[in-house]
Order: sequence, then structure tokens, then C-alpha cells
Amino acid sequence: MLAWHLTGPDHGYSWGEVPDPVPGPGEVRIAVRASALNHMDLWLTRGRPRPPTYPHVPGCDVAGVVESLGEGVEGWQVGDEVVVNTAVVPAEALTLGVDSVLHPGMRLLGEHLWGGHGELCVAPAHGIVRRPEGRSWVDAASYPVCLTSAWRLLRRGRVAPGQTVLVTGFGSGVGTAAAMLALHLGAEVVVTSRDEAKRQRALELGAAGAVDSAGPYPTDVDIVVDSIGPAVWDQCISSLGRGGRMCVCGGTSGPVVELNLPRLFFQQLEIIGASIGSQEEFQFVTDLMADGLRTVVDQVYPLEDYPAALERLRSGEQVGKLVLEHPA
Ligand SMILES: NC(=O)c1ccc[n+]([C@@H]2O[C@H](COP(=O)([O-])OP(=O)(O)OC[C@H]3O[C@@H](n4cnc5c(N)ncnc54)[C@H](OP(=O)(O)O)[C@@H]3O)[C@@H](O)[C@H]2O)c1
Repeated sequence: MLAWHLTGPDHGYSWGEVPDPVPGPGEVRIAVRASALNHMDLWLTRGRPRPPTYPHVPGCDVAGVVESLGEGVEGWQVGDEVVVNTAVVPAEALTLGVDSVLHPGMRLLGEHLWGGHGELCVAPAHGIVRRPEGRSWVDAASYPVCLTSAWRLLRRGRVAPGQTVLVTGFGSGVGTAAAMLALHLGAEVVVTSRDEAKRQRALELGAAGAVDSAGPYPTDVDIVVDSIGPAVWDQCISSLGRGGRMCVCGGTSGPVVELNLPRLFFQQLEIIGASIGSQEEFQFVTDLMADGLRTVVDQVYPLEDYPAALERLRSGEQVGKLVLEHPA
């Protein structure tokens, strides 16, 4: 097949022929119709993380049409329109329910496994869902990583209507998804961003408030959803009210933070870490997509313009997802 691929660490992406991925038992092969970018696409070019083999095809968010079936696949047919859960787990992990992503065999599509920025992509039949009804291919590729992660965080943070949710870094894919999801679930959402235009966009999309990332932050917040880390950590912790939940899914500004322990226990705070999501969580957000959950796509590029999309991701100017449309 033709695909964007890496031939080694510190190499840029090339477009060209790589071997067709072959669906094994229980797997399907998908003709990709749209795939979305994540920071993983950039990190892979620096060899951090390093994929298990080269060539490597990136692309964590994948939607397309089932093109062939591996041995023993039931419940799916050639021609079915599907979206792939980025968290690929062995079939036996599904018995763990929402904890299936804690299974040691969990692998990420686009990192440990070839992803979707090529013509074909292989995924386990138990890790795909039907394309949400009424949503375009672009919408279908825009939500797997960011919305499933956002839901796992908010679910574990016990989000409820009327609660205040502070989302840091509105410009990030996961931040935009968390804000839109919390709004959809009836929470009052305040976002942070360093960029005035992004703060304005958040207000237009329904946020009750939008503050500069440098602060000051609101107080008595029920849940913080953060992917920035040390640059905003102290302010996020200070913004939580009693019993508040600090929900973390990234450390864009660095890996290490300090924690004031008396604040943690006197305020009875909880710190929750989460990474992508189980099949149940993925199905939940897929159903919300079918119900019309608003998602934010920054720009759509034809597959051949992947370098331009990567450049926009690198610039940090985007609000929401960057999606590649593949030829039918
Ligand atoms: N665990 C998971 O399942 C999961 C899933 C998705 C993402 N993530 C992680 O979440 C993080 C965000 O990823 P992403 O691709 O969605 O977003 P991204 O494009 O990396 O955006 C990060 C945003 O964070 C803000 N930011 C970055 N550095 C900052 C700093 N020094 N001070 C203040 N704000 C800063 C900026 O927001 P403004 O432009 O609005 O200021 C920026 O747009 C990454 O670390 C990623 O690994 C984790």
C-alpha cells in the first residue's frame, strides 16, 4: 500500500510503498477514509517514543470501510463503516470492562502498531465500532483519542450536571474535547488558554469563562482536566474546592510537579491519571457523537498534505483536531 511512514528515528515522514498489512485471526483490514493527527505524530519523528519496528506508519485516529476479514471474525462484513479504538487490547482483556486499558497487553494504534495515515489499517474486530450515524468521515476520525480520553477522565472525576469543570489549554485536542463533552454533560465549563482568540472561541462554543493560562484561575472548582502539567499545576490545584478532582492526561510542559501535601489532605482532593479508554468508554462517546455531540475540527487536509498538517500541529495555532481526508 501507499502510506506516510518513518524509516528510522530522527527521519522525517516519507510517502511511498510499504507492505500491505495483513489481518490476522480476529482482525479486520480497513480502507482508511479519514485519519487525524496527534502529538504522537511529531514525537515519533524524534524517536520518543520509538516504534517497535521500521518502517512505521503513524496515525492514532482512524475511520474507514472494512475491506477484508481475518480468520474467525464474526459480526462484521466487508463494506461496514467503522471507527477504531486507539487502545488495542487482547480479546481476553475485554472481560476487565472499563479496566481493559490497564491490561499489560494494551498497545496504541499509531505508536506500537501501524496506524492510519496510509491506504490500509489493521485492527482487532473487537476494537472497532460502527461509524456514528449522521457524522462525516472527518468527524469520525476526529474523536477516538481525544474524546475517549476526555470521557475516561471526566467519568473517573465523577462529572455531574451543574458542577464546575476547569479545562486547561483549550487549544489542545484533548482540552477542546473535554470542554465540549463537559458542556454536553451539563457542567459549567471554564477554560484556560494563552491565546486571546482561543479564549474567545471557547466562549462562542459555550464556555462560561475563559481565563489566561497565567491566571488568575477560578476558585471552588469541582474538576480540573489538565494536560499541560508543571506550567499550570499550582494554579490548578489551588483552584479546586473541597473534595475537588484533579484529572490529568498529559504533561505537555514537563513531567514533574510539586504537591503540597497538607493542601491535598485538608482539602480532601483526588488526583486521577488516565490514558485513552476502554471499549465501553469508546462506545459511549461514539453514541454521543451519533446524538450530535459537538466536536471541534480545526482544519481538514487531503492525505497528501500531511506535512502541512504536521506544520500546523507544530505551530500550536490550532483549536481542535487536524484531520486528513483519504481518497475514496
Ligand atoms: N493520556 C491520554 O490518553 C492523552 C490523550 C490525548 C492527549 N494526551 C496528552 O495531552 C497533551 C495535550 O495533547 P494535545 O495533542 O491534545 O494538545 P497540544 O496540541 O499539545 O496542545 C497543548 C496545549 O497546551 C497548552 N500549553 C502548552 N504548553 C503550555 C505552557 N507552557 N503553558 C501554558 N499552556 C501551555 C497550549 O494551549 P493554548 O494554546 O490554549 O494556550 C497548547 O495548545 C499531550 O501531552 C498529550 O500527550 C494524552
